[in-house]
Amino acid sequence: MDSAIEVADLRKTFRPRNAPPVEAVRGVGFSVGEGEFFGILGPNGAGKTTTLEMIEGILEPDGGRVAVLGRSPWPHSAELTSRIGVQLQTNAFFEFLTVTEQLRTYAQLYGQPEERVEEILDVVGLSEHRRQRCEKLSGGQQQRLSIACALIGDPEVVFLDEPTSALDPQARRNMWELLRKINAEGRTMVLTTHYMEEAEFLCDRVAIMDSGRILALDSPASLVAGLDAPTHIKVGAHQLSDAQVEDLTDLGVQRENGTVEFETRDPQALLVRLAEAGALEGLAVRTANLEDVFLGVTGREWRD
Ligand SMILES: Nc1ncnc2c1ncn2[C@@H]1O[C@H](COP(=O)(O)OP(=O)(O)OP(=O)(O)O)[C@@H](O)[C@H]1O
Ligand SMILES: [Mg+2]
Repeated sequence: MDSAIEVADLRKTFRPRNAPPVEAVRGVGFSVGEGEFFGILGPNGAGKTTTLEMIEGILEPDGGRVAVLGRSPWPHSAELTSRIGVQLQTNAFFEFLTVTEQLRTYAQLYGQPEERVEEILDVVGLSEHRRQRCEKLSGGQQQRLSIACALIGDPEVVFLDEPTSALDPQARRNMWELLRKINAEGRTMVLTTHYMEEAEFLCDRVAIMDSGRILALDSPASLVAGLDAPTHIKVGAHQLSDAQVEDLTDLGVQRENGTVEFETRDPQALLVRLAEAGALEGLAVRTANLEDVFLGVTGREWRD
């Protein structure tokens, strides 16, 4: 697979006037294949947005190399800009413009025909709001508008910085379907998110960042498999005597709110025995997921 993005030893230190320097990105490297859906995960302040903005050509790196579609994004090149779509973490609209006017401005910037505006309004489900002023849109609607702006130029590479953070559950699911469709058209996608389920659903591979470095990088399934974590099986406690619970316990057991939860490495055997005991009421099975990987890699402390 050819790569759409190559990043090597990327670095950025912010030097605010009245505060100590912040080493936001400290030697990040990865490549994203053409047509790949790549995710960047990490706690608040990990350096995700800073990394993205250097790849997008918005921020000048202090060190390292970036190539997007074979070109350096810094200094700006109009040729490259026309081939990428960028959705920023903070929306920047011309607030007095209506939705249509905003999109028309972007369409002109990207040399797209007028019809593209209607098409993209439909794609992000904003047709009904086309005459509304941008400043009057709800948070989720603004987010969909910013995604529309990122897509209007028919980009080969799409960058999305937390694209679903303000969306309701329906809109989020719809957005996932939309992003998958856009990716299936052959576009390379790079997204950041705090939703592990979103990353598992969308991304071919994810990088987990913390404190300006990549700590893990693989497909969500491989990362989860690498944890080698036990399975948790929960049933209603009333169905089992203490002796039965003791007998069934493999790695560990926990009682809570009228349930009993077993930890096991052999879920099949335990499920069979629970079925034999007639104790499957309230059954819930939880295997490790990307969230377990994330917490394992980044720890559980609060971030600034
Ligand atoms: N312009 C700036 N000036 C000074 N410090 C900055 C600037 N931009 C970012 N930082 C700092 O750099 C670090 C990385 O910030 P960044 O925005 O890249 O994090 P992030 O991973 O995107 O976080 P979040 O999940 O909260 O969006 C943080 O400590 C942040 O405070
Ligand atoms: Mg960010």
